[in-house]
Amino acid sequence: MKSLKIIGTGVSLPSRVLTNADLEKMVDTSDEWITERTGIRERRIADDDVSTSDLCADAIKNACADAGLEPRALDAIIVGTSTADTLFPSTACWVQGKLGLRGPAAFDVSAGCSGFLYGLELASALIVSGTATRVGVVGGEVMSKVVNWKDRSTCVLFGDGAGAAVVAAGKGDSGVLASNWGADGNLASILYQPAGGTQKPATHQTVEDNAHTVHMEGSTVFRHAVMAMSQAATSAMEEAEIKPDDVDLFVPHQANMRIMEVARERARLPREKMYVVLHKYGNMSAATVPVALHEARTEGRIKDGSVVVTTAFGTGFTWAGSVLRW
Ligand code: UT7
Repeated sequence: MKSLKIIGTGVSLPSRVLTNADLEKMVDTSDEWITERTGIRERRIADDDVSTSDLCADAIKNACADAGLEPRALDAIIVGTSTADTLFPSTACWVQGKLGLRGPAAFDVSAGCSGFLYGLELASALIVSGTATRVGVVGGEVMSKVVNWKDRSTCVLFGDGAGAAVVAAGKGDSGVLASNWGADGNLASILYQPAGGTQKPATHQTVEDNAHTVHMEGSTVFRHAVMAMSQAATSAMEEAEIKPDDVDLFVPHQANMRIMEVARERARLPREKMYVVLHKYGNMSAATVPVALHEARTEGRIKDGSVVVTTAFGTGFTWAGSVLRW
């Protein structure tokens, strides 16, 4: 394994908070239902004039500042998102423009909630192969703009935010010890945004049908998420020859506390090793893992040398699991 290091992390979280009590006034739901069934208490909502690239650019700036670098020191920018600024160009290109850069490669990874871990996998490969030396990986979403605010079964779940990491060549034994990723496109229509692409271009009818919003069969996603997240984490741990006792922190994708708990139990990791930000931010899709990693670092739960197991699952379906030595 060639050594890699996450040399900086940063986040961007809108200041506006939407609580479960606020949602009670918008749809037929209750704080009790949302808290018990999901573990979410509040989430952040971006202002109308804020797009995914604004949050991503801000998170990358913060991660670069944390690393003691200027954004121009990056030689590639990878954005994991399902809520792209535009169908083309990529959100990463909008981000690059907002950072005032010209030159670094910039592209999106469309892997839903697994987007940040897919991006990290690519960043590692670019650095290990010598193609890049410093890569900014960011997971960012403005879910609030693709949620149907009249559908209580989805609108209570999501939030907006972005989290970034700067990945560089390292020294010693830090890096991605092992990882496992995959996808099952046969289940693409279980969780998707039906309209706006070439399958169903925007028409007055698609707008009327709310076809530009999140459509999800929640219980199917739930079942597959539990299975895939625990398997990805377990396989990565086995490949890295890491036992549950060796793990300092478990950082799963944060969509539903019940999914996270079962995935944790199946990976045989104790409750106190699981890091949770879900109650504060809801499901920010590709942003949940990097935001949680950043907050865990800020709190001192991740230090140099810490062994971190992270795993995610999302639309596609896609999944990923990694064992990182910080
Ligand atoms: O990031 C990856 C993408 N997403 C996910 O990982 C989400 C995965 N799925 C889930 O987290 C869960 O399936 C949900 C939280 C979406 C739903 O929880 P559930 O325990 O699977 O509930 P359900 O869909 O089986 O619905 C149970 C009941 C239904 O009422 P009836 O038919 O039993 O009378 C729903 O209509 O709860 C009702 N319900 C609600 N009630 C109050 C659904 N949403 C709400 C709500 N407030 N917001």
